Amino acid sequence: MKVDVLLGLQWGDEGKGKVVDVLTPKYDVITRFQGGPNAGHTLEFNNIKHVLHNIPSGIFHPDKMNIIGNGVVLDPISFKQEIDKLEAMGMDLTRNLLISKKAHLILPTHRILDAASEACKGITKIGSTLKGIGPTYMDKTGRNGLRVGDILNNFDKKYSDLKKKHQQLLGMYDFEYNIAEFEKGLAEGIECIKKFTIIDSEHRINDYLKQGKSVLAEGAQGTLLDIDFGSYPFVTSSNTICAGACTGMGIAPNKIGEVYGIFKAYCTRVGSGPFPTELEDETGEALRKAGHEFGATTGRPRRCGWMDLVALKYSVMINGVTQLIMTKSDVLSTFETIKVATSYKINGVETEEFPYELPENMEVIYTELPGWNEDLTGMKSEDEFPEELNNYIAYLENELEIPITIISVGPDREQTILRGEN
Ligand code: GDP
Ligand code: IMO
Ligand code: MG
Repeated sequence: MKVDVLLGLQWGDEGKGKVVDVLTPKYDVITRFQGGPNAGHTLEFNNIKHVLHNIPSGIFHPDKMNIIGNGVVLDPISFKQEIDKLEAMGMDLTRNLLISKKAHLILPTHRILDAASEACKGITKIGSTLKGIGPTYMDKTGRNGLRVGDILNNFDKKYSDLKKKHQQLLGMYDFEYNIAEFEKGLAEGIECIKKFTIIDSEHRINDYLKQGKSVLAEGAQGTLLDIDFGSYPFVTSSNTICAGACTGMGIAPNKIGEVYGIFKAYCTRVGSGPFPTELEDETGEALRKAGHEFGATTGRPRRCGWMDLVALKYSVMINGVTQLIMTKSDVLSTFETIKVATSYKINGVETEEFPYELPENMEVIYTELPGWNEDLTGMKSEDEFPEELNNYIAYLENELEIPITIISVGPDREQTILRGEN
């Protein structure tokens, strides 16, 4: 068997959590392979909304196994908060959630370092989620980090040694902090992780594949936030792309099967950094309102703009996408015309290639398509789609040369339309 991967093609928040939950019945195992509690993955069913940060979005299907892979960074404090919430709903996750020994731990001092780094950058800040993601991955690549396996022996001493190093680093910033505040809940968080089965997940996942079990890897963030290929430096600190599933789970490239690329019918971004199709006007405000575009992790308003085909084609290429999923199609229902960016003009030169940098003064060239003034949220099949939506879908498929196999028309599990052979 192969591992199918579902990942974001834009700047995150494409609806990954919702669609992973919808696809979970087709799989035996769901894994996270990168990122950490910077992710906020929303699922809705039975009129209840759930937001997951550390835990894979297959968790609401009790007969499916969920794995936090080695490429993830895990914060014991935020993990316990999430577990507590789910346990309060009567769920026992110790049966169907496994954690990799090799996942790196986000420590309280990583969160302080994140805050200090952002504060000292001032207006050039990344707009990070302040979850300690950057400093934790820095310790990983700098070979100083602590891993989940480290909590199994002598953790306190290891933490206090690393904390000393972090405090020296923090001394270089003009930043005040109360360490006790940040450390609240750490001991309980560590004990909470110990309740779970901690495994060598690369062996387990490869064994599952040998046994014929199907695995879905759930990406976090999005391709344009990838540390190598995103709009650097306004990115996250991990490889959010398909290749990240290999290193973040310990599977070989030839074990990747389908690559589901998910995108919104328009674009959003939260945090700083370039956004060529951003609408800083009433149309952007209308998108934010109609799409309830506020961050699932930080509550910040998301910046909104039109679909960007230059960026989307780049993401499709980097990930080797085999199937596309379009979400939030319903949000575009009230617009007379829909705009799609088809090329950029930089220093007078037109290009369809996503460039090294996205200068502020670049020009964006758009195509306009007619909108559909029809509520999609109750639709159950593509046969009900208005002609203009079918045209939009056909236009995108033609440009991207990949079929759009799933259309999402609302936040609920049920508001999902499978096309073609699905
Ligand atoms: P993720 O990080 O990719 O899992 O996405 P988020 O959960 O951060 O953000 C997506 C938001 O859109 C959530 O509030 C979802 O409930 C919601 N959502 C997902 N799909 C749709 C859709 O097709 N239509 C609408 N209106 N909302 C959707
Ligand atoms: P999901 O999985 C949207 C953004 C932050 C910031 C930048 C770096 O829900 O799609 P970090 O805390 O990672 O160092 O922040 O990346 N960011 C996200 N934006 N969705 C996410 O995750 C994000 N995770 C990080 O806003 O601009
Ligand atoms: Mg999100």
